[in-house]
Amino acid sequence: MAQIGRDTQLAKGFLESGNVVGIPTETVYGLAGNALNLDAVLTIFRVKNRPSFDPLIIHTDSLKKLDQFVTDIPGPARKLAETYWPGPLTILLPKRNLIPDLVTAGLSSVAVRIPNHPLSLALLRSLDFPLAAPSANPFGYISPTTAQHVADQLGDQIPYILDGGPAGVGIESTIVGFENGKATVFRLGGMALEQIEQVIGPVSVQTHSTSNPKAPGMLSSHYAPRKPLILIAPGKTPEPNKQAGALVFREPFGGISAQHQRILSPTGDLNEAAKNLFAHLRDLDSLPIDIIYAEPLPNQGLGWAINDRLRRASAH
Ligand code: TXA
Ligand code: MG
Repeated sequence: MAQIGRDTQLAKGFLESGNVVGIPTETVYGLAGNALNLDAVLTIFRVKNRPSFDPLIIHTDSLKKLDQFVTDIPGPARKLAETYWPGPLTILLPKRNLIPDLVTAGLSSVAVRIPNHPLSLALLRSLDFPLAAPSANPFGYISPTTAQHVADQLGDQIPYILDGGPAGVGIESTIVGFENGKATVFRLGGMALEQIEQVIGPVSVQTHSTSNPKAPGMLSSHYAPRKPLILIAPGKTPEPNKQAGALVFREPFGGISAQHQRILSPTGDLNEAAKNLFAHLRDLDSLPIDIIYAEPLPNQGLGWAINDRLRRASAH
């Protein structure tokens, strides 16, 4: 069983010997390994049971190191990086040969970010390689936002989980790519679209691929609990049902037991809602209920990303 602790030296030792460990980030916990070591990268895919066509994000701690991994940083990409890193934003950039094809699933671009978490930044600073880190959940299941979530699902397969407390943002990073100077968001996430547009102007959003290799891993049934989840229409309420649970924004639904409902943010704060989303979904998944009803949130700020996750979770 994985040891859980706050010892970055211990984590460093495991990573340097090619092992994979759980690491905290501000978005979700990652399953991290040396991105330049094929064995470590293969271990990540095996532990997660992740198909090899789904590329990994590499994590580093400074813009200076980035030049070692990519051949070019377009102007708008640099602007975003300078403004929002460390932070919940991943940028797709043309990769150098140093980055193994296994990491990028054969694509010519690599996804990079600098995570905003003191423990992981300290760890990354101490390493002379970047960390490949997908979310530390079995493929297709809900992403972990605490060290215990990681231990519950992958604890018997990894030696160590670095415990940085509950993730502050709670939803995966926003992914943005550039082609011919044009910015496209491929995954809605912890950095709001409005914030990106403030810096580089209008961006297009392209997240609804079913088998589009441009946004691999963005499969519909991603982020799903084991129980069926029904996304109800805005402003509607579900039929009264003793066997149902609900994930709601500010107030519980009538007709469903209060014990079976989880409120994302009583004050209507979308950042708080994102922070609670995955833990509440996990919680509902463990209750003696047959079905989970979820209420869509306002389409603004992190509401876009939350609604995206709820739609994917409901697509069974
Ligand atoms: O917040 C996050 O991004 C977390 C933390 C741990 O950093 N990581 C994360 O990784 O969510 P993961 O593996 O669960 O999701 C990575 C997704 C892939 O499924 C794929 O959609 C996209 O990033 N991706 C990675 N490399 C890509 C590339 N070269 N081109 C297009 N999409 C890419
Ligand atoms: Mg993931």
